[in-house]
Amino acid sequence: MASTAPSSEIPKAPPPPPPPKPQKAYFRPIYSSLPPGYITKSTAIIVVGGIAAYTGIELLCGSEAFYSGALKVVQKYVDGETSHQWAVRMAKWGVLPKCGENLKEYDSLKTDVFGKQFSNPIGIAAGFDKDGEAIRNLRRSGIGFVEVGSITPRPQLGNPKPRVFRLAEDEGVINRYGFNSKGAGPISEIIKKQYEPEHPVAVGINLGKNKTSADAATDYEIGIERFAPLADYLVVNVSSPNTPGLRALQSKKELGKLLQSVKDALDVKEKEIGRRPPLLLKIAPDLTYRDKHDIAQLAIDKSYGIDGLIVSNTTITRPETLQSPNKTETGGLSGRPVREISTEVVGEMYQLTGGKVPIVGCGGVSSGQDAYEKIRAGASLVQLYTALVYQGFPVIGRVKRELAECLERDGFASVADAVGADYRSKVK
Ligand SMILES: Cc1cc2nc3c(=O)[nH]c(=O)nc-3n(C[C@H](O)[C@H](O)[C@H](O)COP(=O)(O)O)c2cc1C
Repeated sequence: MASTAPSSEIPKAPPPPPPPKPQKAYFRPIYSSLPPGYITKSTAIIVVGGIAAYTGIELLCGSEAFYSGALKVVQKYVDGETSHQWAVRMAKWGVLPKCGENLKEYDSLKTDVFGKQFSNPIGIAAGFDKDGEAIRNLRRSGIGFVEVGSITPRPQLGNPKPRVFRLAEDEGVINRYGFNSKGAGPISEIIKKQYEPEHPVAVGINLGKNKTSADAATDYEIGIERFAPLADYLVVNVSSPNTPGLRALQSKKELGKLLQSVKDALDVKEKEIGRRPPLLLKIAPDLTYRDKHDIAQLAIDKSYGIDGLIVSNTTITRPETLQSPNKTETGGLSGRPVREISTEVVGEMYQLTGGKVPIVGCGGVSSGQDAYEKIRAGASLVQLYTALVYQGFPVIGRVKRELAECLERDGFASVADAVGADYRSKVK
């Protein structure tokens, strides 16, 4: 008979595994239990934080290489007008280089024009900050002066979109904005809030006319009335190609009449506010010799009240060298393709006015050498816009640095010494 008694041999439990040896912290295999390639939250935070810190430092210190590289990437995905709006927004919020080359000033670049001191001769041209929203921070970006506008008396939307086209292969832009503007009333309020009369960075206010206005003189008078108290200088812009009939105002008869009424308006305003902001005329690069000659005569004649010329606006010509498929778009061409054209007109106007009328050279400036060529051709000050599209704000630091080097290389102690150097012997 089989025994039912329990076996006296109970199976032994296996011995417990030995306790893990304590490991030093830096050997602890933190990630060993994670599948390969798994990114922990902390890794992500470190990586994203690192990229953000790097981007912030490069943005605020104005790294030239970073800006041009980043802009190339952004421009693949964002159209011209949206990029422009974001650039103005960022300038308004103060996301601009706050250290580095941009804020460096050079003794040789200090200059006096229109009875005003400029810490450097490089300004931002009209069309970037059309509604004057970013004046306060633009003044802190290292530029010598900033021009806002063009401002029309009544608000207008401008032409239908799309209306801004990059010509990346040519470092140019074609725009047909057509004076999109919030209008003189709202913009004067925006500018008033940022008004700092003793600020060393001058603010120019560029005036345009409404598309549907039949009376150009009245439009400019409204601009004078509104903005003379707020401007370090005023600009009569008769040279944008995107407002029908505007450039016809550059003919002798039309311009003479227009300038007379503008001058009368400024006379009245001067009595009221006790000062007279200099009045500049902005011209196109596409004028005939006759037009340029006539404008020079009006500019020399003090009775028309012109204190300076801005040479030039965008061109309606299309140089054969253009590569970009966007070259067929209608509008004004700016940037590198207009550089030589406008420098030539600076030289012509300098000679035609006998060097008696200060010229602001504008068109295709993207390096110190470009600015230097404008100055040697007769410009006392220089502006840029399209270079911001391709190089961002560090271009300001670059142009200042390189311009100072050009002056030193050629033995000029100051900008003023170099003005018109290419033509001086020909000027009476
Ligand atoms: C998108 C864009 C908008 C512009 N808008 C104006 C404007 O409203 N008023 C004006 O006088 N010039 C305007 N301009 C012309 C510039 O002020 C400047 O004269 C021209 O672009 C040449 O300089 P740049 O080659 O450095 O850009 C505009 C230029 C661009 C590219």
